[in-house]
Formats: sequence, structure tokens, C-alpha cells
Amino acid sequence: MKTLSVALEGNRSYPIHIGSGVLGDAQLLRSAVCGSKVLIVSNATVARHYLSWVREALTDLVVDELLLPDGEAFKTLQTWEGILSLLLERNHGRDTTLIALGGGVIGDMVGFAAACYQRGVGFVQIPTTLLAQVDSSVGGKTAVNHLLGKNMIGAFHQPQAVLIDTRCLATLPAREFAAGMAEVIKYGIIADRSFFEWLEGAAGQLLAGDSEALTYAIERSCAIKARIVAEDETEQGVRALLNLGHTYGHAIEAEQGYGNWLHGEAVAAGMVLACRTAVLRQQMTEAELERVIQLLLRFSLPVTGPRTMDADAFLPHMRRDKKVKAGRIRLVLPIGIGNAEVADSVTEETLREAINDCGRCAS
Ligand code: NAD
Ligand code: GLY
Repeated sequence: MKTLSVALEGNRSYPIHIGSGVLGDAQLLRSAVCGSKVLIVSNATVARHYLSWVREALTDLVVDELLLPDGEAFKTLQTWEGILSLLLERNHGRDTTLIALGGGVIGDMVGFAAACYQRGVGFVQIPTTLLAQVDSSVGGKTAVNHLLGKNMIGAFHQPQAVLIDTRCLATLPAREFAAGMAEVIKYGIIADRSFFEWLEGAAGQLLAGDSEALTYAIERSCAIKARIVAEDETEQGVRALLNLGHTYGHAIEAEQGYGNWLHGEAVAAGMVLACRTAVLRQQMTEAELERVIQLLLRFSLPVTGPRTMDADAFLPHMRRDKKVKAGRIRLVLPIGIGNAEVADSVTEETLREAINDCGRCAS
């Protein structure tokens, strides 16, 4: 097992434990919980496989459980309110701990409930999808969706610990695994060219479920994210780079109806759009764009947006993006492979050209 740390100010630093068997180590989970009461929140898909592993580590505590409906379409204020209602009905106090057992949908909603319940209680992330293990469980971004925009209602609230058991990936459907790989590839593009090159070489092993390769990909992703979050916890600067492809991706998710495109799939198509924009601005070569496309394709990820979405469909969503400042769309754009910037000078003409170019690739 490997333990990384998210180094934050005050006493808020927390560990990320990664390995095969992490959830078999009762002491590890027990030590992440303060107080005598916990609420485990999951859904039926995940609970069937993993709830008992968590329950068994907490036999000396009062344990409540709540299973939420499964899916991005349920990442709503209404579902979130259900978590708060149960906490109140079961008399959870300020010393309670919430445990998020599931993918990014569960993690984001439970984190937001923990941020708000009695003005903030502790929570632990136990991510069970690849996407949640490499991205959403780390960094304290919590949220629910609004019909008008993805993750538009939320808070920064850091977990007390992140427990990543790579054994959970064995039951993950292939499409969900691929969606997680989009975020893994993102780290290579924005921050680590040699990791990107490693991914190009290790794609076959990762697809075959090679445990050593998977563990390395998760560790490297978490290490990059932990470093960026430690530097810029509330996204005043460098943390925005973690949103490569997301401005386009969130537009796809909202426009297509939450859950129809997986988040990672929308990010994959969005990253190609961002790379295409970077090529038009001559900060990435056609050859580098092609390498990104080929790597995404190795994992059967989409490299174009939906055929029905032209620039006029993207732009209203992009204007509501959380990075917009003084009405200007700000985009994360790669600078070659391994580096990126936040650009606020992309003209509408270039935005339209990139979206329309990618649309042509699709037809
Ligand atoms: P998800 O939570 O919907 O999980 C995907 C599916 O896999 C679900 O049906 C789930 O029940 C199932 N599942 C989970 N673990 C499983 C397992 N081990 N075996 C079998 N099935 C399993 O989706 P996701 O991709 O994990 O997360 C996407 C969400 O994360 C989006 O809402 C996105 O906005 C959010 N996100 C947040 C951050 C952040 O920093 N907070 C970062 C990236 C993404
Ligand atoms: N997933 C983007 C971030 O955590 O900042």
C-alpha cells in the first residue's frame, strides 16, 4: 500500500491510501473516523459488492446506511436533501462522519452534504470507480447539478481521508473504466509529458487490468492532483488546469441530458476540442493533437462531440462556465503535451472554428 498526502494549511492535511486490500485494513478506516456515529452513503450497485467491507471495519460505532438512486441524473438538490433528512431523523450531531462509498456522483453529493450539515461535518471518501479514484475523491470539490449547469451548486470541503482499494475496479463496467482513463490522460496532457508517454506504452496492460500498471496510473494521477490542490486549494490559479476539456465537456453533459454521456466521455471529447483550439492558436502541433486522439481511441473514448451539437449549442453553456470572469470565457488549453495554461483571449471566431473543425472530423 502507498500513502500520499494532500498538504493543506492548518490541521487539514489528509492521507490518500492506495492499494489492493486497503478496505481489508479495518484500522485504516477506523482511524479516519472521529466520533461514535457514522452514516455510510452508497447506492445499490456499489453496496452489493462493497458495503459489507466497510461495515465490518466499524463494528464499534453506531452505523447508519443510506442507499441513493444510481446515476448522474440523481445528482440533484433533492437527493442531497435526502441525506440531510436522514442525518436529522437519526439525530446525528456535529461529531458525525459521513462515508461516501461509490463513484464521483456519490462522492460529490456526500461531500456537499458534509459541507452543509450543521455548517460542516467530517467525511471520508471511498471511491470505487477509476474516475473517482484518480480525480473526484481528492481535492474537496463537492457539488450537485442544476438543470442549467453541471456542478453549479456546491462548496469546497475537504475529506478527512481517501481510501482507494484497487480491487474495486474488478467489478467496474468497461465503459466506466474508459471514462476514468480520460481523467488519467488529462494529467499527462496538462502536467506530465513522461506520464503521457508511459500511458501510450502501457495502454495494453491497463486495458488488460494489469494490477501494477493500474496502481501506478492511480498513484501518479493522485500525486499530480494532490500537488496542484495543495498549491491552490480553492482554484484561484493553477487548479483551473485540472479542468482541461471540462468547459466543453460540461456543455455536452448538460445539453445531452445528465447521464447520457458519461462525465469522462464528455471530458475526452472536450479535451480534443481544447487541443484543436490550441492547434489553431499554434501552441500545439497537429502531430501532438493526433497523439492525444490516438491515446483516447485506445480506450474507446469519444474524440468528437455529439453530431447534433454545433457551436451555437456549445456557447450558451460555455458562457455559464465557472471559470468565466467579467463575461469572458476562460479556457484551459494545452501548450504541447505536458503543460497547459488558462487562456482568456480566445476569440469567438477561434472557438467556433475549433468546434466546427471537430464536427467535420465526426462526419
Ligand atoms: P458514477 O459515480 O455515476 O459511477 C459510475 C457508475 O459505476 C455508477 O452506475 C456506479 O453505481 C457504478 N459503480 C461505481 N463503482 C463501481 C464498482 N466498483 N463496480 C461496479 N459499478 C460501480 O460516475 P463517476 O464517473 O465515478 O463520477 C462522475 C461524477 O464525478 C460526475 O458527476 C462529475 O461531475 C464528478 N467529478 C467530480 C470531480 C471533483 O473534483 N469533485 C472531478 C471529476 C468528476
Ligand atoms: N476535477 C477538477 C478539480 O478538482 O479541480
